[in-house]
Amino acid sequence: MAKPIFAIEHLEPEIGKWLLFEYEHAAKIAGKNRILFTNVKKEDERRLLSKFGTVEEKSAAEIFNHEKVIVLDPKAELPLKPEDFNGKEAVVVGGILGDHPPKGRTKLLLTRRFPKAVVRHIGKGQFSIDGAVYVAKLVGEGTPLEAIPVKKGLTLKLNKHGTVYLPYAYPLRDGKPVISQKLVAYLCSDEIVEDEEKLLKGES
Ligand SMILES: C[S@@+](CC[C@H](N)C(=O)[O-])C[C@H]1O[C@@H](n2cnc3c(N)ncnc32)[C@H](O)[C@@H]1O
Repeated sequence: MAKPIFAIEHLEPEIGKWLLFEYEHAAKIAGKNRILFTNVKKEDERRLLSKFGTVEEKSAAEIFNHEKVIVLDPKAELPLKPEDFNGKEAVVVGGILGDHPPKGRTKLLLTRRFPKAVVRHIGKGQFSIDGAVYVAKLVGEGTPLEAIPVKKGLTLKLNKHGTVYLPYAYPLRDGKPVISQKLVAYLCSDEIVEDEEKLLKGES
């Protein structure tokens, strides 16, 4: 049976660096020919994302038969199981950044558009987009959700004085959190401070 592809439904107004690093890492995890970015309305963003995989202007809700789709939503009632993948064409993941606390944007912006889809969660906690793809890929390959180790909250060391805390859930691979190394480097760099200063001044 063909393996379902991962459709990331882009739902943020802009593609900032954080989102871009998660998208790139998600594509690496899924594999370039198993990733589809949907709902990408701006031409420059379609060009940008085409480096990582296939890109569609249309929403995944217009592309797929809803009965052949699994939507990943933290608010789903049931956990994702390997058998959920039978006969499915796509796993749809929200192209939505983490909110702390979560605002339930996946349900509002994504799940509501798929009334006939299988909607599943991958455990308690808010996973990153790439982390969610990693977990779903393993479950699709037959690993039960309970067998995937997860770390809640991640502290990155900036230098000997500072740390940054990410209040999200990270699956562990070989004991290490699955996170984009480009994102880690960015969060630990002066670049993020400069970007935030520009934002505050309204320059970006
Ligand atoms: C960073 S999360 C965004 C969650 C969003 N802030 C919310 O409150 O719904 C990005 C995407 O990963 C998937 N995801 C993250 N954690 C999940 C979970 N525990 N169960 C199912 N899907 C999850 C969802 O598709 C979600 O839209």
